[in-house]
Amino acid sequence: MKNPPTLAIVGATGAVGRDFLTLLQERRFPHGDLRLFASPRSAGTALTYRGEPFTVQPLASDSFFGVDIALFSAGASTSRQYAPAAVRAGAVVVDNSSAFRMDPSTPLVVPEVNPEALEAMRDRPGIIANPNCSAIILLVALTPIRKAFGIERIVVSTYQAASGAGAQAMQELLDQTAAVLAGRHAEPRVFPEPCAFNVFSHNSAVDDATGLNVEEQKMIEETRKIWNDPDLRMSPTCIRVPVLRAHSESVNMTLKSPATEAEVRAVLAEAPGVRLVDDRAANRFPTPLKAAHGDDILVGRIRPDPSQRVANGPDGARYHGFNLFISGDQLRKGAALNAIQIAESFISR
Ligand code: A2P
Repeated sequence: MKNPPTLAIVGATGAVGRDFLTLLQERRFPHGDLRLFASPRSAGTALTYRGEPFTVQPLASDSFFGVDIALFSAGASTSRQYAPAAVRAGAVVVDNSSAFRMDPSTPLVVPEVNPEALEAMRDRPGIIANPNCSAIILLVALTPIRKAFGIERIVVSTYQAASGAGAQAMQELLDQTAAVLAGRHAEPRVFPEPCAFNVFSHNSAVDDATGLNVEEQKMIEETRKIWNDPDLRMSPTCIRVPVLRAHSESVNMTLKSPATEAEVRAVLAEAPGVRLVDDRAANRFPTPLKAAHGDDILVGRIRPDPSQRVANGPDGARYHGFNLFISGDQLRKGAALNAIQIAESFISR
């Protein structure tokens, strides 16, 4: 890898792609040449980066000559088609799509959770998968609790922003909101249901046999892979809400070793990437607006599950179950930031 590395962004005009550019600037990511790619529809578009215009090029198989790190966020089919070409050209690919996540030879990495999975790459060209956004946000909050007490079972309900479905979905939410307020009808285009002033089951396909949608299936499979716990019991329900760019999740977990509330709170207070927002007196807790444009996963409503009390001890009541409410920026920690943190760990090595 050259020092500084040549960088490519695939999907630069998309919602995650634009956050890649913002984060590279904010974090002063060291790089040499920067190449921006999108579909032929965007060829010639100028994007501003560090005050300079950069022209978007149409993606092709020979786009990666000399590229050291390629950040992909252009959907699974584009990744399937072009990520192998980037690797053949000698690049490390950090792929935000679902294309390679469950491939056993592809590391699936959240740097705060399983940085050891990157060791398999040993500084050679290859693909590293960025997990599903809802899984990343959940695991940043739960991994420290798992390390301290073990986790036997998770029941999680998501409140997912439009950003997870891309820039066009965010625009649909804005346009529909304006239309409804103006008394006009707005036909859904990206989502199957109206998204303004509405809440609906996640727009991914539902498996007829299990009743799980693809998003729920991803949360289960990816959490099991990242935690290396193939038997983890997990029951997700994924829902879209009329929020632009941060996901929230209501979590109920069953611990292997019962804990006091003070113990759980102390673990979360020290957790990397977590910020507690938990003011019972003022009724102030995580919200997607508080999480938006920030790097931290906000955690609050930390409370024992009253149905899972086990014993009173000298240090207070112990519980097998706890509840949390968490919010995290889907485009940053749920996608672009996590991918850039993965790339940073290559640079630092
Ligand atoms: P474009 O803007 O030209 O369509 P989002 O997730 O916000 O919808 O963004 C998807 C990103 O992936 C956009 O930058 C989009 O480019 C890009 N993209 C979609 N299809 C392709 C393709 N076949 N080749 C390269 N980039 C693609």
